[in-house]
Amino acid sequence: MSGLVIDPICPEFGARVIDADLQDLNADCVRDLNAALDRYGVLVFPNQKLSEADQISFAKVFGTPSERSRPADRRAEQSEYAHLIGLVTNVRENGEPIGSLPDGEMWLHHDGCFIDEPYRATLLYALHVTSTGGETRFVDMRQVYRDLPIEIQSELIGKTAVHQFDYRNINARPQSIPSSGSAREAEHPVVIKHPRTSEPALYVNPLCTIQFSDAPNDDLLDHLFSAIEENAATFHHRWSVDDLVIWDNWSSCHARSDFPAAEKRMLRRCIIKGCALDAH
Ligand SMILES: [Fe+2]
Repeated sequence: MSGLVIDPICPEFGARVIDADLQDLNADCVRDLNAALDRYGVLVFPNQKLSEADQISFAKVFGTPSERSRPADRRAEQSEYAHLIGLVTNVRENGEPIGSLPDGEMWLHHDGCFIDEPYRATLLYALHVTSTGGETRFVDMRQVYRDLPIEIQSELIGKTAVHQFDYRNINARPQSIPSSGSAREAEHPVVIKHPRTSEPALYVNPLCTIQFSDAPNDDLLDHLFSAIEENAATFHHRWSVDDLVIWDNWSSCHARSDFPAAEKRMLRRCIIKGCALDAH
């Protein structure tokens, strides 16, 4: 037994891992942390002191850290780890953000849904936080699927959807025609089979999902967005400095609430490689 103390946030979604030493993890810890991520979808590790190298080393507990999707010529970060770690921050130098996703609210989404092999997980570590706002909200997409009426579940069998993301557009649904050359696009089943647990999970989101692949049905898509928005299997993480949070991008989606633009917010982000997603 690893002896890790895992304290659920919702009964079956989200958990805090208390007093874990992330720089001294044995094989039992690695197994139990992966099992906890599979079960709870989101793990919060408070009070961690992690360098960039420590964060990458911890990320390897969950798989292979992925090169960032943002092209090198559009990255402002200068660190030697900039190909693996990005800053999510509103800090600017000479008027230009020094990291990614600087300002404001961000709608519910799955990281990486716009690539062919969506990331397994994202790790975010808080360096500076605002006095209010900026929370990350998580939703359990397995529970959203389970709670759909059976006739809606039946209607989704065999459906795929198109996802797109433009880094300059984080609080509005994309248009079907890419608004700029920076947008990336991918297609995935609307109900996926989780690659590790085989559980079904709804895989559409209001920020990135443009339409069903076969024929647009905005009423059904809007119904699914409402089901995500209103599901009870959700919580907001209020960030404290030195929090490390990891979430499963196959079983959950997340959003960011607005925060005061004049206050400094800075988090360090890295991602874990994923795989193509099969239909449930
Ligand atoms: Fe995200």
